Amino acid sequence: MQLAFDDDGPGPVVVLLHGFPLDRSMWSHQQGSVGSTYRVIAPDLRGHGHSAAPDGVYTVDAMADDVIELLDGLQLTDPVVVGGLSMGGYLALSIAARFPERLKALMLLNTRASGDAPEAARAREGLAEQVEAAGSAEPVIEAMLPRLFARQTFAKHPELIARWHGRMARTPARAIAGTLRGLASRPDRTAMLPGIVVPTLVLAGAEDQIIPLEESIAMAGAIPGARHAVVDDAGHLSPIENPRGTDAAILGFLQALW
Ligand code: MLT
Repeated sequence: MQLAFDDDGPGPVVVLLHGFPLDRSMWSHQQGSVGSTYRVIAPDLRGHGHSAAPDGVYTVDAMADDVIELLDGLQLTDPVVVGGLSMGGYLALSIAARFPERLKALMLLNTRASGDAPEAARAREGLAEQVEAAGSAEPVIEAMLPRLFARQTFAKHPELIARWHGRMARTPARAIAGTLRGLASRPDRTAMLPGIVVPTLVLAGAEDQIIPLEESIAMAGAIPGARHAVVDDAGHLSPIENPRGTDAAILGFLQALW
């Protein structure tokens, strides 16, 4: 399906895939900084931001297919850098697994390779049902917001929290439910990590309450030659909470590629 997207900047292509339940505006800082040297393509994934929200389960592979369709539509069939945060990282791994010829390099930000444990999948189904009953994103925001940001971000940048609460609240209930069910059924991609042959950056927020630092270090350790970077003063949403620290890691990685 067609996605809304931003496409700006000169040079080699860097695709940035947002997390759940966010939208492409989470990359607004990177569009300025990374986008001064690279062509940054940032879509709103299915159901999010300004993209359409069909009924049904949004599997990670279907959402990744949308991204490939977008690149095909732009005639970008040569390998590109694909980076994703959390859910965006699941999509990036889906592309690495199923379309390795499309990848020049991989950036896995605040994400994991494993699938949901059965109890996590059950909790997602419970949340999906609450969201459908409420007809709004609020139940999922209530469940996720306290863990999305570092504790100090709540104290230092309440305006950021309020802004993102508002953006998440605009995501339609059927998109939230469809995504939750898709995330719950995503495959465990841990076994593919040793077979990744493109340069890879694994980035972690020092205070990420959703992806423990040790898990991200282990993921980087399983990918041959992967670079691991930790962004201070950031939780799960490093590009928003500490844009400069995130940019430094991304730009350092990209500069070594060309
Ligand atoms: C995200 O930020 O995309 C979510 O934390 C992903 C998830 O819920 O697994």
